[in-house]
Amino acid sequence: MNRFAHVTGWGMATPDRILTNDDLTKMVDTSDDWILSRTGISERRIAEQGETTATLAINAALRALESTDISATDIDLIIVATSTPEYIFPSTACIVQDQIGAKHAGAFDLSAACTGFIYAINMAAQAIRSGSIENALVIGAETLSRFTNWEDRDTCILFGDGAGAFVLQASDTPGGILTCIMRSDGSGENLLSIPAGGSKLPATHETVDKKQHTIQMNGREVFRFATRVMASATREVVSLAGWELDDVTWVIPHQANMRIIEAAARGLRMPLEKFVINLNRYGNTSTASIPIAACEALQNGRIQDGDRLVLVGFGAGLTWGALTLEWVAPDLKISRAARWRRTSLVLLARIRSFVRRVIRKIEGLLWGTSSSDHN
Ligand code: ACO
Repeated sequence: MNRFAHVTGWGMATPDRILTNDDLTKMVDTSDDWILSRTGISERRIAEQGETTATLAINAALRALESTDISATDIDLIIVATSTPEYIFPSTACIVQDQIGAKHAGAFDLSAACTGFIYAINMAAQAIRSGSIENALVIGAETLSRFTNWEDRDTCILFGDGAGAFVLQASDTPGGILTCIMRSDGSGENLLSIPAGGSKLPATHETVDKKQHTIQMNGREVFRFATRVMASATREVVSLAGWELDDVTWVIPHQANMRIIEAAARGLRMPLEKFVINLNRYGNTSTASIPIAACEALQNGRIQDGDRLVLVGFGAGLTWGALTLEWVAPDLKISRAARWRRTSLVLLARIRSFVRRVIRKIEGLLWGTSSSDHN
């Protein structure tokens, strides 16, 4: 039987606090007009005290689970893609695992900056298709505001906080996650980074004074790189799926900058209307941006059964990647298939253990040994 990995649940969580471009003009030398024309961003959400990457991830995860008919105990794997984890260790994914009660799940964080959600979906889909797991929870979650230098107008206007989550389930229904490419170029490590706080530059008074625990970026170079890879990655993954660009119903790009998305659309000769865009209201939420955009498009009913989607992202590392997804409206068939497989695996295990016990009994009768001799 062929196995496919389908998205059957989705959820998002963003802080209530809104920081507008006008608010930013009171903090740094900038203007609403500059920010809007150079980035397309009008406002972003900022975590309140007590809101963290984990709390946002947990809320998104619970909402994603609500829209499925499985519960947290059915989840086999949790991946949290994040660049702003709760701690260096333990992983944010473990905190999510505990708080949602996913007591049978393995959990780990994945660091691929803004491309993290693409990488994480691919890892989970591979695990499902290989038969090693049935259900996965994949989350992109960030509190970039905690790592922003609020005196640096080059960066503080760009970022926002939030989380988005997908539940992935095994099914024999064709579709779901089809193809994926993951790429990297570590020679660009200095183009976009948080230099201190790791093993190279542990926290000292000096690193704090120099604001080395905040995002440092060469905006122009990142812009150039992004416009190049968004189009090439989309072409590559579409061709791998055996599609033409015309077959694509929706592109859900990483929401970094409107001009980057426009350049990608031009490069691909695709109408901008095919791109799901909501960065004007959330800014760049890094790994959370693609699932948040997808969630809104799903909630608004824009994505329909049979639609062909491309999710494409880029980020620090440098990293970039894209995946194709054939949308199959989740219905009970998918979870019934997963339940049937689980039940049959349990039954099979019970039959095996029963047969082993009978064999031991027969051996005992024939050779006069007790079953415990063989244990
Ligand atoms: N307000 C007003 N003026 C500003 C601001 C601001 N907020 N920021 C910079 N400027 C000024 C600069 O100082 C410069 O002035 P100068 O010409 O006198 O030197 C001028 O505006 C132009 O600056 P540029 O850097 O050339 O502006 P650009 O058009 O490139 O836009 C931006 C800057 C928006 C950062 C753009 O380069 C960009 O979007 N880059 C990609 C960033 C990105 O996507 N990063 C996230 C990657 S994903 C991840 O991993 C987190």
